[in-house]
Amino acid sequence: MRILLLTHSFNSLTQRLFGVLRAQRHTVSVELDIADSVAQEAVGLFQPDVVLAPFLKRRIPQSIWQKVVCLVVHPGVPGDRGPSALDWALMRGDKHWGVTVLQAVEDMDAGEVWAWQPLTMRPYATKSSLYRREVTDAAVHAVLRALQRYVPGRLHPNAPGITNTAAGTWNPLMPQAIRRIDWATDTTATVLQKIAAADGSPGVLDALFGQPCRLFDAHPASPAIVSRFMHSPPGTLLARRGPALLRRTVDDAVWIGHVRLEAPPHQLPAHDFMLKLPAALVFAAQAAHLFESPVELMRNDDEWDELRYREFGPEGARVGWLDFEFHNGAMSERQCLRLRDALRWVRTRPTQLLVLAGGQDFFSNGIHLHDIEAAQRVAGDSAADASWRNINAMNDATLEVLTLTDRITVAALHGNAGAGGCFLALATDLVWAHAGVVLNPHYKNMGNLYGSEYWTYSLPRRLGEAASLALMQQRLPLSAPEAVTIGVLDDCFGSDGAAFSAQVLARCLAMAGEPGLAERLNAKQVQREHDEMRKPLATYRDEELNRMNRNFYGFDPSYHVARHHFVFRKPHAWTPRHLALHRELKPASTPSKPA
Ligand code: COA
Repeated sequence: MRILLLTHSFNSLTQRLFGVLRAQRHTVSVELDIADSVAQEAVGLFQPDVVLAPFLKRRIPQSIWQKVVCLVVHPGVPGDRGPSALDWALMRGDKHWGVTVLQAVEDMDAGEVWAWQPLTMRPYATKSSLYRREVTDAAVHAVLRALQRYVPGRLHPNAPGITNTAAGTWNPLMPQAIRRIDWATDTTATVLQKIAAADGSPGVLDALFGQPCRLFDAHPASPAIVSRFMHSPPGTLLARRGPALLRRTVDDAVWIGHVRLEAPPHQLPAHDFMLKLPAALVFAAQAAHLFESPVELMRNDDEWDELRYREFGPEGARVGWLDFEFHNGAMSERQCLRLRDALRWVRTRPTQLLVLAGGQDFFSNGIHLHDIEAAQRVAGDSAADASWRNINAMNDATLEVLTLTDRITVAALHGNAGAGGCFLALATDLVWAHAGVVLNPHYKNMGNLYGSEYWTYSLPRRLGEAASLALMQQRLPLSAPEAVTIGVLDDCFGSDGAAFSAQVLARCLAMAGEPGLAERLNAKQVQREHDEMRKPLATYRDEELNRMNRNFYGFDPSYHVARHHFVFRKPHAWTPRHLALHRELKPASTPSKPA
């Protein structure tokens, strides 16, 4: 089939569907939803059998849905309607939910249901995390089933669907009044639920140190830390750790990781008010007097921090496991240096194998573009300087992995990885992911960035020079199975993150106890020495950074413009040509599909 993905942005769900549909040999093209006339033009050029809308913020124009089958993915059960589907489900505390694929009609989310897939709501999951994992998996199932019902030349499915309008409950955009936290009465569970339901966007409107801001990325505090502050009244800010500030609730306390400052009322939000940044950074001056509460890498499970290290297995066959759960997978200079230091400490541990597990939702998305944008607004700093510091810190962390030759290293991708985050993973000996992971192993989408993280060493050693350059140029997402086929990944297994984790550990424990391990490590060291003699890692780094220096400080501002657009979510003005196949084609001569 010819399938046109009409979408507000090429987001994670759209990328996953793009991979799945192409793997099924459909011809897939993408059009970003910019204006009705542009969407009409795309349909005219591509002549799709089906227009699939995985993520839309506007209605599909009547001129399209009256002529072509248009299927909309709605993150709700049949009958649910409205723009805050997941927010309401999370706020109600629903245990089960679903994803529906329905036909576009005049009213939003009101058309005939072609397929739907139930899902179980993961306890304590945030909205974004549910969207990237359970909702995306369910959407893939529902879309594939819906497409099976397509009959060429007909606007209706091969058997009647579920009529949606009768059962339909319209839930409006969730207002801040419903999300508001009452610190005097809301329990920790309620505070976490409210912040989880607003995660990603729009956040919960609140105030810290008297300054209105939106809260994101909250975590429960451990009894150990709460016990220090038993007598503090609810709402008090108590301590800081990494990016986060600790705030007392009526029963316990929560860590608040990220905030976005709120523009004063009746004022258009200036850029300073639109960046989502670590709470401890935004309120650095006010929080300076708060108790600082760092924790060990190896600690109790209930003690939150961005990094955690654990060990498994007997002496002589031990596996080290390093989680780095950086919000949104973005790695600032501070976070890269923490990871570098953690890796240096991990070297001292008596393990035979190290697993780099990244975060559960994202393995890593490379340097922290919001943090870099914020530096632009700091006196004496600049986005170029911050980019330079960040990429150097990222390279330092990557170098620790590349030079860890006394044990086997494994990157276990529980979530997606993009740009430098992919190449951090590729610095290990073995790179594994589960089938739902999507990789973007290229940099060019960010204003033609050249990239670093030693990619010029680690990619060609897997794919060879020509295939590496082709991958970098084509700028397309790769599904995990595709990535295994071309050699970017070594293996892909497990149906989801939890199943994957268990299998990674079992495989690693078996490998750590293999009799041939010493020989394998010896071969790894010999290879590294040979590679170093052929061309030192320092040379790869210098060459890459020379190009990055031009990206950051040179005449061409493309990277700065692209970053600015990315962090402020500027609407797209056109669909990139590498996604819009139809824009490379001549207008088709075949007539459009009959009604
Ligand atoms: N720095 C800062 N924030 C980042 C980030 C980065 N490198 N990568 C992703 N994010 C943030 C986004 O701003 C977004 O934040 P929000 O929840 O506040 O809106 C969130 O992570 C999710 O990103 P989104 O783009 O919605 O996710 P996606 O899964 O649809 O797309 C990518 C994933 C990797 C394709 C996309 O995020 C991307 O292109 N990231 C930039 C990668 C990059 O160029 N890194 C720098 C060079 S190393």
